[in-house]
Amino acid sequence: LSRRRLLRTAGGTGLAGLVAGGAASVPLRNGRPVPLTAIGATAVLFHGARQAGITTRAQAVGHLVAFDLAAGADRRATAALLRRWSDAAAAMTAGRTPDDDDQIALDAGPCALTVTFGFGRTLFPKIDREPPAGLAPLPPFAADALDPRRGGGDLWIQIGADDAPVAFHALRTLQRRAAGTARIRWQMSGFNRARGATDRPRTARNLMGQIDGTRNPRPGDTGFDAAIFVGPDAPDTWMRGGSYAVVRRIRMLLDDWDRLPLDRQEKVIGRRKANGAPLSGGTETTAPDLVSVRPDGSPAIPADAHVRVAAPESNGGATMLRRSFSYHDGLRPDGTPDAGLLFVAWQADPTTGFVQVQRKLDGADHLTRFIRHESSAVFAVPPGAEPGDYVGRELLE
Ligand code: HEM
Repeated sequence: LSRRRLLRTAGGTGLAGLVAGGAASVPLRNGRPVPLTAIGATAVLFHGARQAGITTRAQAVGHLVAFDLAAGADRRATAALLRRWSDAAAAMTAGRTPDDDDQIALDAGPCALTVTFGFGRTLFPKIDREPPAGLAPLPPFAADALDPRRGGGDLWIQIGADDAPVAFHALRTLQRRAAGTARIRWQMSGFNRARGATDRPRTARNLMGQIDGTRNPRPGDTGFDAAIFVGPDAPDTWMRGGSYAVVRRIRMLLDDWDRLPLDRQEKVIGRRKANGAPLSGGTETTAPDLVSVRPDGSPAIPADAHVRVAAPESNGGATMLRRSFSYHDGLRPDGTPDAGLLFVAWQADPTTGFVQVQRKLDGADHLTRFIRHESSAVFAVPPGAEPGDYVGRELLE
């Protein structure tokens, strides 16, 4: 693992423990879970070989924000902005107060704040550089209902924290530092379950009620790094150790979904809703058996079940790390909830990750009838910065 999470106790007794970043990590003191005060005290290192916020456990609150460069802003201005952003992010993620602070988060600890920076394809002509191969535009998909004003963007920031004011503070601080160089193109806010809400760390549920994230690849799995992070031989040297984020705002047609009886909901996904077990049997962590049949000869996991169509086994091994936030933005004009998934997929190459799987899902996945892809963006997320440095320097200097 390139990144370790540094945990400090609220009482200032020094190091509580070093816990590997990843979906199931919890703060420990003397090998035991620490009480709720550790939520504020948890700090995720900003500096390191990789940016934080990719393999870091998804936090309770998330903001995804895209910026476009202001007219006339060039590579030098972009470099200066990434320097300002990186310095502020390093301070806030360590629980330090950034310069000219608005004091929104003054009483809170870092709350596992992460700030992750990415570059969109439209940035590259403006900074006189060639976009990397992985930033090829996504092909259109039949199920797309995309709003271009809420997609794309020159620059991207993903913010996550276990406290809402801490996340908002980071957003405001970074937005203020962009003044004159870049302005917000779109912003989306989402959430996950708060830490401590369940008896033990569990896989999250999405707003359809399904346990979502079970078969995500995990750091340490064979082939994890090669599938998720750009390799050491990649032609775009500045992207080595980075990753590509595909961002899709996917609205759930929750009223339609609610009308579907439980057994049919389970067939749409291919897993039990209560415990996430595959319909072929076992528990949440049992691998789905795609060849298993029921006594009547029909497949235990239906041919159009989401987990069958999306599985690496059905897509030539295509792998991505899904690290999404739920969203709820009130009601739409027709009275249905404007709610769903801020789907964020991480991979070394979107062509062999998201695109390959979405091509398969498009049309073949039963779930398609209950969701709408409403916006789309792809960002090149460069490797992390070491102390004193800023994210993206190799591209921007
Ligand atoms: C698995 C829900 C969109 C790719 C799952 C699972 C659920 C789920 C409940 C089973 C648990 C798990 O392994 O995580 C949803 C919902 C979506 C959505 C509600 C939209 C609102 C997508 C999209 C993609 C995708 C757009 C990629 C293009 C996958 C993959 C798996 C998966 C790769 C793991 C399959 C396996 O290996 O068994 N999803 N998903 N999902 N989903 Fe989705």
